[in-house]
Amino acid sequence: MDLDLKGKCALITGGSRGIGRATALALAKEGARIAIAARGPEQLARTAAEIAALGAEVITIPADFTEEGASTRAVETAISALGGLDILIANAGGSFGAREHAEATEADWEKTFRFNVVHAVSALQAARPALTASGQGSAIFIASISGRAPATRGAQYAAAKAALIQSARSLAWELGPERIRVNTVSPGSILFPGGGWERTRAERPEDFAAFEANDFPWQRLGTDTEVADAITFLASPKASWINGADIHVDGGQRRPSIR
Ligand SMILES: NC(=O)c1ccc[n+]([C@@H]2O[C@H](COP(=O)([O-])OP(=O)(O)OC[C@H]3O[C@@H](n4cnc5c(N)ncnc54)[C@H](OP(=O)(O)O)[C@@H]3O)[C@@H](O)[C@H]2O)c1
Repeated sequence: MDLDLKGKCALITGGSRGIGRATALALAKEGARIAIAARGPEQLARTAAEIAALGAEVITIPADFTEEGASTRAVETAISALGGLDILIANAGGSFGAREHAEATEADWEKTFRFNVVHAVSALQAARPALTASGQGSAIFIASISGRAPATRGAQYAAAKAALIQSARSLAWELGPERIRVNTVSPGSILFPGGGWERTRAERPEDFAAFEANDFPWQRLGTDTEVADAITFLASPKASWINGADIHVDGGQRRPSIR
């Protein structure tokens, strides 16, 4: 299937590693022009080189999305360098502070919400005129199955991802008249080089083996490319009637992990 992504301009936050990197590569393979934003310059440069090796145009944007204004600046930089924007993937996200409720501070909750929710909705606000001008604008927020099913610990992360899913559902209505689609992708536990699950596997091999055996219909975690392929389709004009949706890419895992 031709996804009709040739020449489309895409910004991927957190695009240097993991799901974001795999998504940037998948979009580049389809002929999209790519901007990736993250903190670490070395990993940004490595991923940009991989994208360029596919023959795609790529720019890197240093940014820390826990900082106020960072999303707006990153989007403005991408639009000015690429000359427009058709696809926004707000992928950077994660949790701050203690996983136990008794120990998590107000600052942990606020920073987790800023990183996951405020970063994404602010990026979309800044991108909106360009996505409207595109006529086929697609915004995708990367949430988590933790946003759908109760987590046993780390309530601030689960709550932030739930808020992200509901933000997208609501914004799909608000931006619909401008023909901008807004969706979330909710991955299950995803294993990739340099990621959190690789560290858990090395540190707690027995727990990890039990986790794989018991929590997944296929007795394995997902991969970054499996999530990226779903994101790439969703970003494309071929997904024109998928809007306000939360797409699970979890191999049937359905509930958050034991970590
Ligand atoms: N991996 C999983 O099992 C899983 C499961 C469900 C949902 N998710 C969600 O999927 C998304 C991607 O997670 P991931 O596990 O693939 O990757 P990750 O290891 O969390 O990092 C992804 C990217 O985000 C960048 N990043 C991290 N902190 C940042 C910050 N403060 N400002 C800007 N960029 C930042 C990283 O580069 P730098 O560190 O250099 O900045 C990297 O490019 C997240 O929203 C996560 O919550 C992941």
